[in-house]
Amino acid sequence: MKVTVVGAGAVGASCAEYIAIKDFASEVVLLDIKEGYAEGKAMDLMQTASLNGFDTKITGSTNDYAKTANSDICVITSGIPRKPGMTREELIGINAGIVKTVSSNLIEHSPNTILIVVSNPMDTMTYLAHKATGLPKNRIIGMGGALDSARFKYRLAEALEAPISDVDGMVIGGHSDVGMVPLTRLATRNSVPVSKFISEERLNEVREATKVGGATLTKLLGTSAWYAPGAAVSSLVQAIACDQKKMFPCSVLLEGEYGLNDLCIGVPVILGKNGIEKIVELDLDEAEKAHLMKSAEGVSKTNTLI
Ligand code: LAC
Repeated sequence: MKVTVVGAGAVGASCAEYIAIKDFASEVVLLDIKEGYAEGKAMDLMQTASLNGFDTKITGSTNDYAKTANSDICVITSGIPRKPGMTREELIGINAGIVKTVSSNLIEHSPNTILIVVSNPMDTMTYLAHKATGLPKNRIIGMGGALDSARFKYRLAEALEAPISDVDGMVIGGHSDVGMVPLTRLATRNSVPVSKFISEERLNEVREATKVGGATLTKLLGTSAWYAPGAAVSSLVQAIACDQKKMFPCSVLLEGEYGLNDLCIGVPVILGKNGIEKIVELDLDEAEKAHLMKSAEGVSKTNTLI
């Protein structure tokens, strides 16, 4: 199993590290345009192998796509991250060109690969990768919902004063501060609805904290986060590589599902060896449906900018 990660910045390197530590891939290629940077990160990571107990071989490359040839899964993290006060949508001008070039280069060397898009604005970049490569929809996956759901579970556990392993929940919709739809109605603590334990007011605070999860970290760190994004991507890569058939909310091209068409947005999917094996259609209530429609409007508006 060969995995390429384009962009050896914080998210890309963290993703490569988590993939290696989970030890399911034989090879990870890190690629970056900055001379020597991916090679340096790969070497540093390889020097953790005996300490962290993995056999995955990590190599680096300065923009040589021949080294990525025949990758089973390719992850695109390239582009600029947001600075404090910026929205993800503001990155479109620079990132659109980068994602278009990177996705075309990857497909040229790995025509059978599954692409995972992380660059922001992620839903629009996933849509752009579709347009640029023409890959079937099961092979282009946007990573946002897995991260947003992890942040949701963190906030839910905090509010419930419960361990995170007790909590389950999911965020669908666009990967943006206004577009995320945290499904509090369906969130549970050991299969008991969370509304049994905390007030609607507290749940609303959880929803709002989840939606600005990335922005809160950007303010604290001066740049966007990397540990949870890296871990979220590695979970998707593992689900595909190990044919786990696990369910995650991912950004995927919709063709009528949820009443939406011709855009990529976060909905629950089953991930396995074919990438997206199935789109799961939830029975949303009226408020959730309305929120998802509004989110889709925002994504479609951003899509007009590419
Ligand atoms: C975040 C970036 C990866 O939410 O969009 O941290």
